Amino acid sequence: MTKESQILVTGGAGYIGSHTVLELIQQGYSPVVVDDLSNSSKESLIRVEELTGAKIPFYEIDIADSKGLASIFSSHSIDGIIHFAAFKAVGESVEKPLAYYRNNIGGLFSLLDCMDTYGVTQFVFSSSCTVYGDADDVPIPESASVSAVNPYGQTKLMSEIILRDVAQSRPNWSVSNLRYFNPVGAHPSGRIGEDPSGIPNNLMPYITQVAVGTRPFLRVFGDTYPTHDGTGVRDYIHVVDLAKGHIAALSYQKTVQGVHTFNLGTGRGSSVLDVVKAFERATGKTIPYEIVDARAGDIAEAFADTSKASEVLGWSAEFGLEEMCRDAWNWQSKNPHGYEDSSGTV
Ligand SMILES: NC(=O)c1ccc[n+]([C@@H]2O[C@H](COP(=O)([O-])OP(=O)(O)OC[C@H]3O[C@@H](n4cnc5c(N)ncnc54)[C@H](O)[C@@H]3O)[C@@H](O)[C@H]2O)c1
Repeated sequence: MTKESQILVTGGAGYIGSHTVLELIQQGYSPVVVDDLSNSSKESLIRVEELTGAKIPFYEIDIADSKGLASIFSSHSIDGIIHFAAFKAVGESVEKPLAYYRNNIGGLFSLLDCMDTYGVTQFVFSSSCTVYGDADDVPIPESASVSAVNPYGQTKLMSEIILRDVAQSRPNWSVSNLRYFNPVGAHPSGRIGEDPSGIPNNLMPYITQVAVGTRPFLRVFGDTYPTHDGTGVRDYIHVVDLAKGHIAALSYQKTVQGVHTFNLGTGRGSSVLDVVKAFERATGKTIPYEIVDARAGDIAEAFADTSKASEVLGWSAEFGLEEMCRDAWNWQSKNPHGYEDSSGTV
């Protein structure tokens, strides 16, 4: 695989996908995007085109559409796949498990079939730290035991298992399972960022919506966890660092066949109140908050052991928490309604 390689990016119009498409272009790759826009806007790709000056081939289809997918592989010489396309809301997955299994697992099958048909051997998968369940120890290494406590987590775990079994039967394949911790922030340009529909499920977009006046205060779920200030601790990672981790994995795996698993985090745990304070320092905004009951199923603490990614991929996160907050706010304040107010075609 050369740097000019064409990389199929599924879910490339989404939050992490759009940042990775930008990074791919900047590092000399040619991304081809497939996204059904079920949770995103074409505007993200228009803005990546503006930022990079590149033209991005874009296909608005569901990856479960085998014929549509095959026609993309027929039109482009695809050298590798980065697979982001999935539903990702934990709560919704409990309400609609079948939709999650169908989309997240069914979509994977179509892609793997195309790899066989079109001789593609490189696959990078968006996994999640959710596969560790409630880990016994922190920091969490890749060797920690895995378990899933909701259908979303199950789809990530099952996908990893499917990829392992299929890759074992195809010795020339290389697969990287990238277990993300908590992606936050936005491209420093403020042109692309996280644009959740409805009430955000994640902390940072909630904070930025409070800061911009869309929501009156932040609800902090629980302050009696066994952590330094009682609020839940997570490993927040800047989305640009995360995007770079994908390129590092692509570059590594082309020479090392088999299945590889890497944590992508910073290795540092921050509590909810640490994030609130860092946001206030970085932006000068005050974030009113109220402590409410802890949510069922939430764990006290999770952060990554990142030594494997650092030693094997030569990748580690560069941005700190205040930069994550600064860039999240830069995006939100420049785009109070996300991509909603823009329209256009790629
Ligand atoms: N954001 C996080 O906190 C986080 C953490 C760990 C793992 N992940 C995983 O990373 C990936 C990307 O997450 P994100 O935050 O960018 O989410 P996102 O919703 O912004 O991006 C996913 C994209 O996939 C598209 N999509 C969904 N199903 C599709 C289908 N069947 N066919 C074509 N396109 C489809 C959506 O329209 C969206 O653009 C997901 O697989 C998610 O599970 C995310």
